[in-house]
Amino acid sequence: MSATTSIHGMWSTRLAFILAAAGSAIGLGNVWRFPYTAGEYGGGAFVLVYLLCVAAIGIPIMMAEILIGRRGRQSPINTMRTLAEREGKPAAWSLLGWMGILSGFLILSFYSVIAGWTLAYVVRAAGGAFTGIDAAASKAMFDGFVGNPEALFAWHTVFMVLTVMVVARGVASGLEQSVKWMMPALFVLLLVMVVYAGWAGDLGAAARYLFAPDFARLQDKAGEAILSAMGQAFFSLSLGMGAIMVYGSYLRHDASIARSTVMIAATDTLVALLAGLAIFPMVFAHGLEPGSGPGLIFVTLPIAFGEIPGGSLFGALFFVLLVFAAWTSSISILEPVVAWLVENRGFSRVRAAIIGGTGAWLLGIACLLSLNLWSGYTVAGKGILDLFDYLTANILLPLGGILIAIFAGWVLPRAATLDELGGTDSAGYRLWRFLIRYVAPAAVALVLLNGVGLFKVIGLA
Ligand code: TRP
Repeated sequence: MSATTSIHGMWSTRLAFILAAAGSAIGLGNVWRFPYTAGEYGGGAFVLVYLLCVAAIGIPIMMAEILIGRRGRQSPINTMRTLAEREGKPAAWSLLGWMGILSGFLILSFYSVIAGWTLAYVVRAAGGAFTGIDAAASKAMFDGFVGNPEALFAWHTVFMVLTVMVVARGVASGLEQSVKWMMPALFVLLLVMVVYAGWAGDLGAAARYLFAPDFARLQDKAGEAILSAMGQAFFSLSLGMGAIMVYGSYLRHDASIARSTVMIAATDTLVALLAGLAIFPMVFAHGLEPGSGPGLIFVTLPIAFGEIPGGSLFGALFFVLLVFAAWTSSISILEPVVAWLVENRGFSRVRAAIIGGTGAWLLGIACLLSLNLWSGYTVAGKGILDLFDYLTANILLPLGGILIAIFAGWVLPRAATLDELGGTDSAGYRLWRFLIRYVAPAAVALVLLNGVGLFKVIGLA
């Protein structure tokens, strides 16, 4: 039998879990990363592939992560080891947990830098810096900001401290309390932004761009685009590194994993699409470039806020909520390593959170320097920040996803997954098992190998 509780604490209700997991999923990935990545790959076709990845790969893998976590009730490293040993399988399955810790450090390091941008933009908005700003001035403001290592360093540090503070307070009083009201507020403000963008910008052009798939736009970048769409799905749903797994380890046994997952994935997707509909109308109305990269929202949104009556207030509020969204995500990236330090090193939660946060903070300094002083150092044309982002979302998370799918589909006995997924051998359960055993691992592997160009190298494509 499995333990019924975790030593780290438990979510008080199923709703608390859904909010925490949705809080993890909804973040910079939706509002910052999704629009600019979709823009880089030409819109609609990318969005369509993204939606397919969420449905056919993301949802089954999220269910697998949650059920593995709940079965093991420990940090991903120890959960994987315990469950594998119970089935007489190699303890080396714990390496999946270690890979997740590595991904977590890499993600948190650059995530905190970008979250720092949103903090800085709260102050700018509130100070009236957006008032009457045009596209060129907005771009100049953004370029000036990322070119300033001291400013990036200060905001990165502030955000990391915020993250450590919540994780240090623990599951119930830290994580759970912080997510309850921030998510609904973000949602409402995003709707306001969509309405505004529809009124002031070119909503028709944005909708066509996002929802009319034009596969010709992908051209010879199709493999890379599909890999990026899948990577975005993993990143946005917080999958492949153990964040959702560790959140699952705090979930009560009687809560439905399938229903929770559908709610989490649906909200996450809705927020990403709304973010697209808030941003692209402004992009097209102001003749900006959809493929202009990570600065996209930091250049377009200020223009919108600069025109709205009360834009300084709305702008500040919007970036505050974006900070909250990033915050409820960053805590989930730090949680797996903190749980492990508490379990295996006997550290207090506070000490574990500080140690984990400091590690990611140090790596983050390299990320922020890559935007200015170190911009000359690149690997395959990417600076450190871009490289960490690419490596995690497009390679490490999908690899983690394949292993999670294999573990849930082939290593865990059918009876165990059936028990976690409600106990009735329904059509839904059989569909999940089919997706997790065959579809998810094969699809992820194909997209991965094709996207990194392996088929080209060996002459198959
Ligand atoms: N999903 C979050 C976002 O979209 C980021 C995130 C949180 C994440 N936890 C994660 C990404 C774990 C990958 C893995 O902003």
